[in-house]
Amino acid sequence: MKHTVLKDKHIVLGVCGGIAAYKSVELVRRLKKLGARVRVIMTESAARFVGPMTFAVLSENPVCRDLFDDQDEAAIRHIDWAEAAQAVIIAPATANTVAKLASGIADDALSTFMLAVTCPVMICPSMNSNMFEHPATQRNLDRLAADGCQILAPGVGELACKTTGPGRLPEPEEIVDRLISFLTPDDLAGKRVLVTAGPTREAIDPVRFISNPSSGKMGYAIARAAENRGATVTLVSGPVALPPPLNVDVVPVVSVEEMAQAVFARVDQADVIVKVAAVSDYRPAISEPHKVKKGEGDIQLTLTRTTDILKSIGQRKRDGQILVALPPRPVTWRPMRARRLSPSTWT
Ligand SMILES: Cc1cc2nc3c(=O)[nH]c(=O)nc-3n(C[C@H](O)[C@H](O)[C@H](O)COP(=O)(O)O)c2cc1C
Repeated sequence: MKHTVLKDKHIVLGVCGGIAAYKSVELVRRLKKLGARVRVIMTESAARFVGPMTFAVLSENPVCRDLFDDQDEAAIRHIDWAEAAQAVIIAPATANTVAKLASGIADDALSTFMLAVTCPVMICPSMNSNMFEHPATQRNLDRLAADGCQILAPGVGELACKTTGPGRLPEPEEIVDRLISFLTPDDLAGKRVLVTAGPTREAIDPVRFISNPSSGKMGYAIARAAENRGATVTLVSGPVALPPPLNVDVVPVVSVEEMAQAVFARVDQADVIVKVAAVSDYRPAISEPHKVKKGEGDIQLTLTRTTDILKSIGQRKRDGQILVALPPRPVTWRPMRARRLSPSTWT
């Protein structure tokens, strides 16, 4: 599912002199892929970490570094860009720039531009944990939040400076997800949405099962979209290889029976139920407790019906509750083709 909220949006990305500046390169690429028009303003320190040329090429726009640079068409660029901007992201935001913005200091291109901005602003602080937890930085972030900026909390983990704690710049995918959420109207606020996704597995024995190739992508995208629109989302998911969507309560299950129990326990509280899971209609009548040994002859597998989750929900659906069931999309199975290396690849 492709997000359209960023399509043709004028987004200005401010990049500061932090070790995570390299991640902003990928951020530009992702924003462009979603159709955004991106302009980059770098601080002088940022240019010591990543070359402006990289941002210029990826954003397809000149990069602004110097307030007094008169190389391009815009005479008062910090005002022109601020008036055109529909959203601003500062990533990474250094402790220094956070402090300047909180105090209204305008002594370089980025901080001067920020004073002229009137559109939504998302600030992604990234720094050493002690710098982040310093009362001055916390005070400055609180002040920026009070001024209406969205502050994206940094991740916790091992940092480039080898300390462990808060301060890590979230991955570009998460930043884009939060930006989409920030710019999307919360028209589902107060609604509870229950989504099911992915395949189920029905055990033949401890090492074999019946399943299907559902990737879970559609259900995960629906859960993300509902969360972006302000809903409280629960995602009951079969085994998939997808990262859990942010701010979504994920309930992992394996078999139809587990999915049925997880859904039945939550369905009455839900305002909207979206069933996208590819649920097995049949399961082996007997699930062997030990691995079935190979023999000479054929074996028979007797299958029995599983719980019909959709039918049960349909029967207990209350007035005003919305139930959506999407049939699984057929997947074309293709054998993996062996890749031939060309001789030049070997050298
Ligand atoms: C190797 C190195 C890494 C740095 N990483 C960070 C960082 O991740 N976050 C931060 O707030 N400052 C970091 N700094 C310090 C900033 O670069 C410094 O405070 C600078 O004045 C920030 O300028 P700016 O806010 O104009 O970009 C780092 C400095 C060095 C030398």
